[in-house]
Amino acid sequence: MPSCSSLCPSVPKRSPPNFSFTCVATTCGAPESIAAQAQRQAAVVPPVHFGPLDVSLPAGSTLFPPGEGAEIANANCVMCHSTGMVLRQPSLTTPEWKTEIMKMRNGFGAPIPLDQVDQLAHYLGVVNGKKNDAGPSGVDNQAS
Ligand code: HEC
Repeated sequence: MPSCSSLCPSVPKRSPPNFSFTCVATTCGAPESIAAQAQRQAAVVPPVHFGPLDVSLPAGSTLFPPGEGAEIANANCVMCHSTGMVLRQPSLTTPEWKTEIMKMRNGFGAPIPLDQVDQLAHYLGVVNGKKNDAGPSGVDNQAS
């Protein structure tokens, strides 16, 4: 029968000072039970209890604002990014929106049918349209 001190070696030198390693007579001979270990750990680190939590997120604009052509945008533009990605961009003219839609279609694979592009460009020109078309550079219409 090994001695108790051989089963319970002394606390290693590298233990942090607040780590208490108890080696009492009951731990000698039989391994410490899981419950006893848990109890000892709980004294050092209080157990964390998880409970249900009600999280309400702010209302997101998951759909485009109503208008003629909104359903085209909802059907073709929100599977990859949010409406905000479209609506919070700098305003574009309707022809510029058409170019943007074609970029999404040809470059990224937006599944919009060709015969709906013009109507969507018109819609986007209404909900996020450039008020005055100052020309491509924005300089052309300035008084000289
Ligand atoms: C297949 C995925 C996909 C679909 C569908 C899609 N987009 Fe995009 N869109 C992207 C990606 C990717 C970017 C980011 C491109 C970049 O960083 O250059 C982007 C960026 C944009 C931008 C920011 C400006 C830009 O060019 O980066 C606008 C505006 C936009 N999309 C409009 C639309 C519209 C309108 C539709 C619907 C016709 C649409 N997107 C559908 C993938 C998509």
